[in-house]
Formats: sequence, C-alpha cells, structure tokens
Amino acid sequence: MAHTSDPAASHDLIALGERHYLPVYRQRQVVLERGQGARLWDRDGRDYVDFAAGIAVCGLGHNDPDLVAALVEQAGKLWHTSNVFHSEPPLRLAQELVEASRFAERVFLCNSGAEANEAAIKLVRKWASAQGRAPDRRVIVSFRGSFHGRTLAAVTATAQPKYQAGYEPLPGGFRYVDFNDIAQLESAMAGGDVAAVLLEPIQGEGGVMPAAPGFLQAVRALCDRHDALLVLDEIQCGMGRTGALFAHWQDHVVPDIVTLAKALGGGFPVGAMLAGHRVAEAMQFGDHGTTFGGNPLAAAVARVALRKLASVDIAANVERQSLALRAGLAALDDGRGLFAAIRGRGLMLGAVLAPAFVGRAGEILDRAAVHGLLLLQAGPDVLRFVPSLNISDEEVADGLQRLGAALREIHAA
Ligand SMILES: Cc1ncc(COP(=O)(O)O)c(C=O)c1O
Repeated sequence: MAHTSDPAASHDLIALGERHYLPVYRQRQVVLERGQGARLWDRDGRDYVDFAAGIAVCGLGHNDPDLVAALVEQAGKLWHTSNVFHSEPPLRLAQELVEASRFAERVFLCNSGAEANEAAIKLVRKWASAQGRAPDRRVIVSFRGSFHGRTLAAVTATAQPKYQAGYEPLPGGFRYVDFNDIAQLESAMAGGDVAAVLLEPIQGEGGVMPAAPGFLQAVRALCDRHDALLVLDEIQCGMGRTGALFAHWQDHVVPDIVTLAKALGGGFPVGAMLAGHRVAEAMQFGDHGTTFGGNPLAAAVARVALRKLASVDIAANVERQSLALRAGLAALDDGRGLFAAIRGRGLMLGAVLAPAFVGRAGEILDRAAVHGLLLLQAGPDVLRFVPSLNISDEEVADGLQRLGAALREIHAA
C-alpha cells in the first residue's frame, strides 16, 4: 500500500501522548493505523508482523470479517442499555459461555480482566461470609510471579512487589506462595483459614511459566480438603490460546470460578467471571454491578469470537503454528546460544534468554520493531510469543525471518 502520511506528523502525534497521557506507559515510537490478520501498518506505511496481538487479545487477528460484521450490525441497532434492562446479545453470550465452560452455572459480564478478577475476589469473600467464616478466615492464596490486574484488590492478589509498591495500604487477607510448590501451598492452607486459591494455569506476565504437570490437580485436591475454592485466571491463557478453549481442560481439573477477558472480545473490551455450582448463588441482587458490563456491542462481538475461537480449525492451527514457532526459534538459536529454554503451550510461548543475554529482552524487542516485528517480553529475560490463533504459515515464517535479523544484530553486538 502507498505511503499515506508524513513521518513528521506521526512524530507530532506521539508528542501529544507525551504531553497529555498520564505517563504510566512507554509506548514504542510508532502510530499503528490498520491491521489485517497478523499484519499491521503504521501511519507511515511501514508494515509489521504481529506476534503480540495486542497482548494476547486479538485471537482472530485484525479486521476479522465476522467480528466486524457483528459489530457493525449491532452498532446499527442498540449500543447500550445498562443492566437495568435486557438486550439479547449478553443474554445469549451468558448462555453460550455457560455451555462452553462445561462447569459454570452463572456468568457475570464486565469490561476487563482486572474487573473479572475483582468480581472473583468479591465472590470468594461473599461465599465465605455466607458460610459463617470470620473475616480473618477468608484468605485468598495466590502465587509469586502471578499477574491479576491493576485494581487495588487485583494488584494485591498479584504477588509481585513491583506492581504493589507505593499503593499501600493494600487490602488484607491475601497470602503468597511460590508457583509450582505444592508443599508451600499445603503449609499455607494448614491453618484452615483459606477460602480460595487463585492462579493462572500458565503465568503470562510472570515469564510464560506453565503450571507443572499435575500441579493444578494437586491444588484442586488441597482446596477440596480445606473446603476452599479453586479460582483460575484464564484471562491470558484462555480462549483457545493453549490449543483448548480453556487451558485448564488440558490440566484435567474442574474449577469453581474462571475469569476471562482479553481474547473474549477479539479486541473489543469485555470480561467475564464464570461461577460454578458452589458459588453460583453466593451473590444476590444488589451485591455487585457495573454500568457497562454486558454491553450489547461487546457481547455481540464476543459471541462471534467465542464461537470462532472454540472451533476445531483454531485448535488445529494453534497446534500447527506452535510447532512451527518452536522449530523456527530452535533454528534461530542454533549455534548462537541465545535461549536457555522455550516454554509454554500452544500459542503462548516464552523464549527464555540464555545467561549471556539475560536482561536484554527489551533491547531485542527494539531491534525486532526496527525489522518490522511486534513482539512482547515477559520480564527482562523472556521473549513472549502470543500471536493471533489464526496466524498463517506465511505470517509465522515472515515473523521468524524478521526476528532472525534482529537476533543476528544482538548476537553480533
Ligand atoms: C492473567 C491476567 N490476569 C489479569 C489481567 C488484567 O487484565 P486487564 O488488563 O484487562 O485488566 C491480565 C492482563 O495482562 C492478565 O494477563
């Protein structure tokens, strides 16, 4: 496509953000304008292969025709009702999520991951209080390296000091243990004061770290023994990303609560908390709410995203491209010793930098962007690959080639 705009104008636009945004982000110096599948173009006509998918959000890539059609059709009918009145899209979405989940009886619709986790935390507390447990016996255990969002309760559940520093006093009733350490969890629960264990089946922000084989089952068993709830945060790893619609299906456990967001809306903001039979009635009229949750536009899009992400075609492509990415990364690494390990599942992969390259993930991302590849890190030592789940052979190959160019420069430097 012809260059349509002037690089100087992009520079001016970026300056607006530098002047007016609360400076909590450090965006890359590009202004993205349009996307198609796993490709993006900036205002200056440069193209990028997208291995980031808006941080694991655009599961169906950019400009998916079915998502666009659902959005446009709903936009011409009804945008918003609030939860004081019904509209059809969220009613249908709730039913479809319950059916797809294989465990949930009820759904709370919201707008983001943090809100879904906030709802889950409140549901745990309400459930425990209805059981007559005193406030100090409603502890929620989470894991070091986790990420559950930025609202005050979600960031307290996020067992990483860097996200919490300066926001004290934090809400009470949270306890942290090491991920994949069942003995630590067992002693953390021994006092009988734990109401729930909250975890990501694959930690995303914390370094693309999967739960060890059997870990989720062991957590489930401990929860059962101590009458605690198992809450799974599938905001990043869910919606088909690991090759199953829900990551925990591959771990063979039945949770009590699951939170979703990110890919559920394919890029339109939406979140959901799914509640199983033990907790489905714990919150009643007036106990929780949100103005925008279940918005008809978001729900209309999410219904289509859910149907497509649950398809066998997507699962097959996730498996195919996961193998291609792993093989491509191994080939790029061959003889260079860049990676200590490739870990993760499906299209949620992390390349762990070898000791000689630790701390340089940010630099690699900068070089990748120069070569036209959008990539993420998960901490300073891990490159994170979370492309769209319908990414093509050609897009994966092109992205790997661009990554190779970036890595050659890093290796030579
Ligand atoms: C596992 C997990 N939980 C929760 C969140 C928070 O979601 P949101 O940014 O939509 O609030 C994220 C976001 O990265 C996440 O990866």
